[in-house]
Amino acid sequence: MGLASMTETAQALVAPGKGILAADESTPTMKKRLAAVGLESTEARRRSYREILFTAKGIDEFVSGVILFDETIRQQAIDSTPFPEVLSGQGVIPGIKVDKGTSALAGFPGELVTEGLDGLRARLAEYVTMGARFAKWRAVISIAAGRPTTTCIESNAHGLARYAALSQEAGLVPVVEPEVLMDGTHSIERCAEVTAATLRAVYEHLASHRVVLGASLLKPNMVLAGKDCPDQASAEEIAEATIAVLKQTVPAAVPGIVFLSGGQSDEEATVRLDAMNRRGPAPWELSFSFGRALQAPVLRAWAGDDANRDQAQAAFLHRAAMNGAARHGSYRPDMEQLAASRS
Ligand code: 13P
Repeated sequence: MGLASMTETAQALVAPGKGILAADESTPTMKKRLAAVGLESTEARRRSYREILFTAKGIDEFVSGVILFDETIRQQAIDSTPFPEVLSGQGVIPGIKVDKGTSALAGFPGELVTEGLDGLRARLAEYVTMGARFAKWRAVISIAAGRPTTTCIESNAHGLARYAALSQEAGLVPVVEPEVLMDGTHSIERCAEVTAATLRAVYEHLASHRVVLGASLLKPNMVLAGKDCPDQASAEEIAEATIAVLKQTVPAAVPGIVFLSGGQSDEEATVRLDAMNRRGPAPWELSFSFGRALQAPVLRAWAGDDANRDQAQAAFLHRAAMNGAARHGSYRPDMEQLAASRS
């Protein structure tokens, strides 16, 4: 893909009313998600579950793209159609997680750095042949006493810029994900400060690596108080704080911001995205790239039994529709009742 088609893909991923499904859980993460509904994680079970998500009818109304994991991009539907083709056939753009997870940052106890740059050029080329059109890399920043350090922020921003440049070289749209975790007791103000410092570093490194911002997306955390902070903010306060930080740090050339859910409940994530879009036009599309906030109800409805497939797909469609409404700032909590009528 050349620059023009990467730009077009980036814009299509944040088309009005649509967002991204993050279904790129690594095998260890998928093990945790399946264990939470009492299931053992096997390759066959991970495949069946992903097939339920990818074959839900009408999903292209609310879902523009799906992020896959390395195992998943190589798997097929029961009729032998490769998953990337299943998605394209549904009008949904296939993407791929290309980082190799985090490891301890030497010399900085408690801090992490994302790995996966070695051999990345060759892996990206292979993913392109498999039909991927965008690529995600997640960096993790944690808040605690004396953390994050500048070294941690800089190391992760450098990694994100190297991956983003390699992605564009391969013709893949980078979805740049610096996640400031919500673990901890910190205030929303502290989260705002750390998110701003992180995003400022990320955009400096992207510029120095000549990443074309119009052909990229940002996948950040919302600005929230730590999950163990007694003083939790309202959706309106979260929307205001998040947009204020983004306006200070994210260039308007970026076509869209696709939030991660990061451990918020599915309804919380929807209400907060809705509150941001209610505030009126922003320099970028404000959308979603949710993992847990789109999948939690689906996993519960499926519970490992393919007899529950229809209910699981209905739960997915419902959650996607709620987030589709939040993209327009037209979500209302009473719309949740529609879930019953869909299943
Ligand atoms: P969550 O929405 O569950 O945070 O997942 C998004 C994601 O892709 C994390 O890398």
